[in-house]
Amino acid sequence: MKNHIEISNEIKSFDKKINVEGDKSLSIRFLLLAAQAQGISNAKNLLNSEDVNSSINCLKLMGIKISKTKTKIFVKGNGLGGFQFKKGIILNAGNSGTLARLILSLLVKSPYKIKLIGDKSLSKRDFSRVIKPLEKFGVSFFPKNKKTLPLYIKGAKDLKPIVFSENKGSAQIKSCVMLAALSTSGRTIIKAKKSRDHTENLFKFLKINTKIKKTKNLDHIEISGNNNYKPFNYNVPGDISSSAFFIVLTTLSKNSKILIKNVNINPSRTGVVKILNRMGAKIIFKNIKEYKGEKIANIYVESSNSLKGINCPIKFNSSAIDEFLIIFLVAAKSKGTSYFKDLSELNKKESPRLEIASKILSMIGIKNKSTNHSIKIYGNPNLKLSKNYEIKNFLKDHRIFMMSTIAALTLGGKWKIYDSDSINTSFPSFLKIIKKLGGHIN
Ligand code: S3P
Repeated sequence: MKNHIEISNEIKSFDKKINVEGDKSLSIRFLLLAAQAQGISNAKNLLNSEDVNSSINCLKLMGIKISKTKTKIFVKGNGLGGFQFKKGIILNAGNSGTLARLILSLLVKSPYKIKLIGDKSLSKRDFSRVIKPLEKFGVSFFPKNKKTLPLYIKGAKDLKPIVFSENKGSAQIKSCVMLAALSTSGRTIIKAKKSRDHTENLFKFLKINTKIKKTKNLDHIEISGNNNYKPFNYNVPGDISSSAFFIVLTTLSKNSKILIKNVNINPSRTGVVKILNRMGAKIIFKNIKEYKGEKIANIYVESSNSLKGINCPIKFNSSAIDEFLIIFLVAAKSKGTSYFKDLSELNKKESPRLEIASKILSMIGIKNKSTNHSIKIYGNPNLKLSKNYEIKNFLKDHRIFMMSTIAALTLGGKWKIYDSDSINTSFPSFLKIIKKLGGHIN
């Protein structure tokens, strides 16, 4: 099967309105929380992607009934502790770090060992970050001291609440502890470095007994467990991480405009907009609304012809963590040097993104210096490519594929980009939208 695309023309000016698919973080959280509510929850605009389908399949194997109509998904939760664990279950999280880290916290009461597996990329990622807090609750992992998938988890009857410091700024770790706290009697206390706060927003909306105090650098979260909650309806807003590719496509194209409708602009996710606007991009939020603890808006973007480099403040790191690849592309086309630091987490994503970004930038003639936690990019506003470029061997990282596609459509040259099916993990309609905007893809 052919699994690459070829691009040999820059995209022409466009002026369009688009919708991106549902937010991945919220889609997965909806499923995991609905599966533990007391009754039938439903969602509209749930992301229809491989990561979300893996979540559905895992929950079904745990005895949860899930059905779909054309526009809605229904999840019948059996309350906390309502999973039907069986011997020999193997849960496959596919490519999804979020699912793999979060589903472990739904297995904390399993009387049997449950095996968790993932694809090649996920099997390289670190799980000690969630094993440590879950062991404190009283959960066991096998083989002992193994940090990567495949892993076995066995729960415990009486879990002890924990006091935990989350110091990586990882929403996956924080959410894993928050979800495990739901099945624990007593009060779990988390001090968390800033990261996306969708789990907190959903807990508040569901009236789960949660206290949150936000300070400048840390969030203090207290959860009293073993309290059931009601089923709920949710309309998943568009994903800003998917929107980011079109924000940058428009920023780097000539005389173009785009309106991306109904996107989640939760401030813990909008680092990309803050960073790019500081670099001279023209991005504004229109028609801002509140929705069940989240913020939603239309994002309007115009091309920019005066981009400048940035010494990126580390306070933006967690709110732009999935968008750095596409931000680096803007830095490549900006005047002056950009510096991004304290980003060791980037090499721990679906692929070592800092390493791969540095290689791609060098390949297109952009001088850069990277370490395992930082990158300096010497931008060139006159960058114009004319050679042949091949992008392959990137562990099928969806965001490397999409970033390369945007580079090909805005910088010139002839590109062959492999593993196009990688978009199915997070953004299956990515190439369709590119075509709608007039991009030529073979
Ligand atoms: C996510 C958290 C982030 C992000 C991932 C989704 C989430 O990971 O990179 O794509 O939904 O909680 P970390 O929390 O590990 O930084």
